[in-house]
Amino acid sequence: MHSGRLIIFAAVLGTIGLTSCAPEAREASTSRFSRQSFGRTDTGEQVELYTLTNSKGVTAAITNYGGILVSLKVPDRAGQLADVVLGFDTLDGYLKGHPYFGAIIGRYGNRIAKARFTLNGVEYRLAPNEGENSLHGGIKGFDKAVWTAKEIDGGKALELSYLSKDGEEGFPGNLAVKVTYSLNDENELKIDYTATTDKDTVVNLTNHSYFNLAGQGEGDVLDHVVTINADRFTPVDSKLIPTGELRSVAGTPFDFRTPHRIGERINDRDEQLILGRGYDHNFVLNRTGEGLALAARVVEPKTGRVMEVLTTEPGMQFYTGNFLDSITGKGGKVYKQRYGFCLETQHFPDSPNKPEFPSVVLKPGQEYRSTTIYRFSVE
Ligand code: GLA
Repeated sequence: MHSGRLIIFAAVLGTIGLTSCAPEAREASTSRFSRQSFGRTDTGEQVELYTLTNSKGVTAAITNYGGILVSLKVPDRAGQLADVVLGFDTLDGYLKGHPYFGAIIGRYGNRIAKARFTLNGVEYRLAPNEGENSLHGGIKGFDKAVWTAKEIDGGKALELSYLSKDGEEGFPGNLAVKVTYSLNDENELKIDYTATTDKDTVVNLTNHSYFNLAGQGEGDVLDHVVTINADRFTPVDSKLIPTGELRSVAGTPFDFRTPHRIGERINDRDEQLILGRGYDHNFVLNRTGEGLALAARVVEPKTGRVMEVLTTEPGMQFYTGNFLDSITGKGGKVYKQRYGFCLETQHFPDSPNKPEFPSVVLKPGQEYRSTTIYRFSVE
């Protein structure tokens, strides 16, 4: 009864806080939403760290630098909270360069071959940043942008907006992007992405969180048990560009239609696993229509933590942190190879050059919309 009253009290104060213009008052008055300084970028821009808290004590901390999910604390089967995403304690860690920990990725998630594509007969040249290819939006992708942040939904959500200018990293059209992180009392962290453009362009947005459900820095993720709702995946060439084939997972180490430990087959002498140095592949999600569908379920047996991923997207990159190489992260923990896994919901890599893949073209007057939910529970 008391806690119920407290929540109502906090909600009322939250509303008052929203209408008042003193940021300090807002910080002090809401328990769901708080804000603190996270430091300055190299160009002197002030960035903040926003924390969403739900009624179960789950917290998600997000910075408006790169829209990065900096920490996510969820309970194990004994109710013990642990931070299940990799990252850094300070902005400095992110500024020094990192493998996209927790970041919003855009304008185009994953690779575009030879950093170029043709749209309406015009060839666009992008900034190559992985050999001759473009990866995750280019040299300065959305993961390095300072976003405008706003508390919405009574402190249950953080709305981030960013205007990506016509020609940025070589992409056509001014793209107005909004990304909203919401945390509800069912321990679901939802990310909604929307975008509009003033010229035909390509868009593919995702979040690049590295999860370890045993707690960040607590060893590798090989014992996590994964189920992926996909009959097919997109095999890649030596540069990790999809060949265009949609290959059946049946009889391969990519068959996660029933639960498998990540480590069970990761070192098999399979051509695709060798090319990716492990799993680094786009799965073609089984869908029966539009809307949110369950893409994956991951269980960490020691702690009992479960994460389910639901998405409106047709694909999901399953990446097992194969390129992680002793990075010192939060609390001085050292992240080695395969200490985190990513489930990046997306359209397929290199779609701008693969007309047979679902289209990533956005035209003026249309709205790009994408939603992904990370749902936490225990078993
Ligand atoms: C994605 C890619 C990987 C790797 C990581 C970042 O998941 O598919 O190959 O580049 O991002 O290190």
